[in-house]
Amino acid sequence: MTGRAGGPRRRTAILISGRGSNMEALLRAMAAPDFPAEAVLVFSNRAEAGGLATARAAGIATATLSHRDYPSREAFDRAVDAVLAGHGVEFVCLAGFMRVVSPWFCERWLGRMISIHPALLPAFKGLDTHARALEAGVKLHGATVHFVLPELDGGPTILQGSVPVHDGDTPDKLAARVLEQEHVIYPRALALVASGQVRLDGERVVQAPTDEGAADA
Ligand code: GRF
Repeated sequence: MTGRAGGPRRRTAILISGRGSNMEALLRAMAAPDFPAEAVLVFSNRAEAGGLATARAAGIATATLSHRDYPSREAFDRAVDAVLAGHGVEFVCLAGFMRVVSPWFCERWLGRMISIHPALLPAFKGLDTHARALEAGVKLHGATVHFVLPELDGGPTILQGSVPVHDGDTPDKLAARVLEQEHVIYPRALALVASGQVRLDGERVVQAPTDEGAADA
């Protein structure tokens, strides 16, 4: 299959652990035949993840393995990797995948694995980002799509989306506002990476030269 600019549509897996609203946003984008990535698999470490039913209803292959059945983080990740290989996966999107991935897995998918974090990194890494943002009194909050490096919630930024923090916000209200942004920026970031418009170079995100740039040179 070819994408927008006639390039290949990158075979993409989405890894989830829960409801999968970001997964849905990604599937919706990838349903367009000219999108530079196509969804070939939704994987979960939890068989009860709500997003699996949504994926199946959309006609996407699903697979599950429980991390509890493996003796170590890397042993589980190697089993996940074998599943991904079985589906010919080229790109991985972590979308609410509540597992810290091993350095081995990060290295194997370096530059081909992206994730979303519900804060404007490098602020508020880790959990409970919305409550912590309110506590800190920030006026802007948001979400970040980044390449995955071994550092937790770290990795070079591909795109960010910001939202205002309002007086009287609760963590839930703020989370809902941020989530809307997540659903906008995650598909855009995947398009940038899958089309080759941006890529990881060491620990930085670089943009491919555009035709305009080439004309200027
Ligand atoms: C999102 O807020 C995402 O940023 C975070 O976990 C949440 C997952 O939500 N990593 P969903 O499963 O995509 O609905």
